[in-house]
Amino acid sequence: MIKVAIMGYGTIGSGVCEVLEENQKQIADYVGQEIQVKYILDLRDFPGTAIENKVIHDFSVIAEDQEIQIVVETMGGLNPAYPFVKSCLEAGKHVVTSNKALVAAHGTELLEIARQRQVNFQFEASVGGGIPIIRPLYRCLMGERILEITGILNGTTNYILTKMDKEGASFNGALKEAQDLGYAERNPEADVEGHDTCRKIAILTAMATKKEVNYQDIYTEGITKITDIDFKYAAKMGTSIKLFGSSRMEADQVFAWVAPVMIGREHPLYSVSDVYNGILVRGNMLGTTMYYGSGAGKLPTASAVVADIIEEAGHLDNHVSLGWSSEKLDIAPMEISYHKYFVRVSGPYEPKKQLIEQCFGSCQIMTLEGLNECALLTEKMSEKQFKEALFELEEKLGGMYQEVLQTIRAQL
Ligand code: HSE
Repeated sequence: MIKVAIMGYGTIGSGVCEVLEENQKQIADYVGQEIQVKYILDLRDFPGTAIENKVIHDFSVIAEDQEIQIVVETMGGLNPAYPFVKSCLEAGKHVVTSNKALVAAHGTELLEIARQRQVNFQFEASVGGGIPIIRPLYRCLMGERILEITGILNGTTNYILTKMDKEGASFNGALKEAQDLGYAERNPEADVEGHDTCRKIAILTAMATKKEVNYQDIYTEGITKITDIDFKYAAKMGTSIKLFGSSRMEADQVFAWVAPVMIGREHPLYSVSDVYNGILVRGNMLGTTMYYGSGAGKLPTASAVVADIIEEAGHLDNHVSLGWSSEKLDIAPMEISYHKYFVRVSGPYEPKKQLIEQCFGSCQIMTLEGLNECALLTEKMSEKQFKEALFELEEKLGGMYQEVLQTIRAQL
């Protein structure tokens, strides 16, 4: 029998217990022995429940119990998750985590400790909830040079954007629903400001390049500026707006960013809606593959955690090589990345037609009935060129008592 401890009995931790129980026989048959949860570390007691006798409040019980071979961290956040996970690895225990904040901030060090101690540190559930993406990267795509990873990596924001797009919902109403459904982070700012996506694309980029990625180097923009009017234009244009985390590995530089992007129906990620995530991976030999599924939520995420427990149960005596080294990856400045841009400007189009062309060159122009504004879609240009053109337009519009209302990158 393999004895496991779970740290954190919240949405994911309780889901892990549920998956282990529901699929107990199948898991035991596969592993060759039973997996038993011996301890559940939580601040709360759960009197009158099936786990009542397993609940502990003192971490050292887990760290010092030689019987515990695998520790599952589903607490979230960095403190105390980081010192607890580090201690477990140093004590020679295998660790599974669903915590992207932990992996993005301390993954390099924790992977190194796991290597030194010849134990395993696995984090499939940290990106894409229940979608297999970490394991495909270090197993199935091992023979590939990864050229691009672009994904809808946050279920909460995808849920919000879908509700705004399809139902005309308000941002706050949709966020509340996502929180009630258990998708959102403890602090919703992490979702809506793009920080959660940033950590996930940092982890995927590190997996793809085998180098340490500092998530703070990744340009990050959330969805809080996106409005119902943007979606009205999107509907007219047959497009949608999604929050992308993207990295592109070119011969001599790597680009990585998080931002809302306007995409057309033919984009492979267009139909990834609601809480679902979709991750597109382009390799130099394979071409494009896509991974799709529930990106958040109790049982899908718990399922990925349990898959890691099973993986570790099969490698109790050896270290599985995965992750990245401590060599730092340089991320190219956002200024030199190329995009098309969707821009909304107040006031009618005709009087400023020439001005817009002067600043941006030829553009596609859109208007919406009943609104005193127009929108333009630029050709591809560098972020630097775009900012300069926008600055020039803003300067000149100022004199006309008009202003730029919105800018969204586009892949159309
Ligand atoms: N808050 C995250 C999301 C949870 O909505 O995707 C899963 O990482």
